Amino acid sequence: MSKRAAFATRVGAIAAAVGSAVGLGNIWRFPYEAGVNGGGAFILVYIVCILIMGIPVILSEFIIGRSTHSNMKAALRTLSPGKKYYLFTYVCILGSFVVIGFYSVVCGWIIEYLYQAALGNLSEHSSAEYSEMFNGLISNPWRCVGWTMLFLVINFIVMSRGIEKGIERVASIMMPLLFVILIVFCVNSLLLPGASKGLDFLFSPDFSKLTWKGVLEALGQAFLSLSIGISCLVTYSSYFDDKTSLVKDAATVGILDTMVAILSGVMIFPAVFSFGVEPTAGPSLIFEVLPSIFQQMTGGYFWALLFFLLVFFASLTSTISLSEIPITFMIEEHKMSRPRAILWTALITFALAAVAALSFNVLDDIKLWGKNIFDMMDYAASNIFMLLGGLFTAVYVGWILDRKVIRDQLTNGGKLKGAMEPYLIFCLRYVAPVSIIFIFLYLTGII
Ligand code: PFF
Repeated sequence: MSKRAAFATRVGAIAAAVGSAVGLGNIWRFPYEAGVNGGGAFILVYIVCILIMGIPVILSEFIIGRSTHSNMKAALRTLSPGKKYYLFTYVCILGSFVVIGFYSVVCGWIIEYLYQAALGNLSEHSSAEYSEMFNGLISNPWRCVGWTMLFLVINFIVMSRGIEKGIERVASIMMPLLFVILIVFCVNSLLLPGASKGLDFLFSPDFSKLTWKGVLEALGQAFLSLSIGISCLVTYSSYFDDKTSLVKDAATVGILDTMVAILSGVMIFPAVFSFGVEPTAGPSLIFEVLPSIFQQMTGGYFWALLFFLLVFFASLTSTISLSEIPITFMIEEHKMSRPRAILWTALITFALAAVAALSFNVLDDIKLWGKNIFDMMDYAASNIFMLLGGLFTAVYVGWILDRKVIRDQLTNGGKLKGAMEPYLIFCLRYVAPVSIIFIFLYLTGII
């Protein structure tokens, strides 16, 4: 194998994995999904999914990646010689393009809001006017495509500087800061009149509001948020050194990611109720609510700027990890140079993202089951690609992979305790496959 880059420090490696996990999935998508699916019950199911499926699948991806120090395809070939499991890698690559296709459009919206914040336009308006502002943005093809492309250009420039410099530095500085800022906003939101209604919505589960479709979405949201199911964490952990405890790292990623999602909910929902915004607004939710929060804070101008800047960096560490999936694959499997692999990945991503950005305006009459192209990509990414990938990973590690590889990775060759093993195997063999297959079959009407 060619010489591969490695993370300079253990903290750098974890920060990069957390950087991948924490992004728009937590800050933009989690609140809107929770809003559409009735709040508390959705969140409860979400947390259960993280514990019994999310963290075990993160750990499985880490096991595959670190035991082979290679991309998913080469890893599956090494771990199961002569078998065709490696073919699943193509589904992962396709999935990574679908995710980054719609995701970078939302990153484009973040840049627009950063720009509006800099101009001081996120103050002195009503929620209804903020809603109009958002609709004005998405219905304008030039602005939508322009910001999306700008974001992608930045993404690929950072990537062309290589793993260490690009990812590690950005991730290690920005993540803790984002965390602190979220807490400040939560406190602010909680002080708004009528905030308790938002907390009720978030934390008093009402199961009559949750459908099986909502359960599927909670599961898909958990996988998208943790960056699992499309081999992203296989790729990242292939750069981990052999001393880190995979169990600790998987738990760290899972817990921090969930905390950021919950904090985003606590930031958004008290304000949603206080300002009379519809919790079911969907993808526009945070863009309608956040400006009203900044507006009533002392120094709102700076808070708005800082917030969108941090979200921008959080998104960037996620899109970097997403683009790294096809890039590492092209370099290692197709012997491309890194610049060439970046170029190809960029071209495909530009095309997909442009179509997604245009699906709110020029292409808005193309719809399937009431969803435009962006919504379809958003839906398919988490509820189909990532779930299928999670299912594959769980079955592969739980049933097929040699138990010695698992034990070796969990204990670092016997140096650590492997107490998690029975729990891991149980979740991977039974809990994850049965739940995912059941939900799929139920929703397709087969059972
Ligand atoms: N986990 C990221 C988020 O929550 O924003 C999105 C993501 C990154 C999904 C990387 C998949 C992935 F491979």
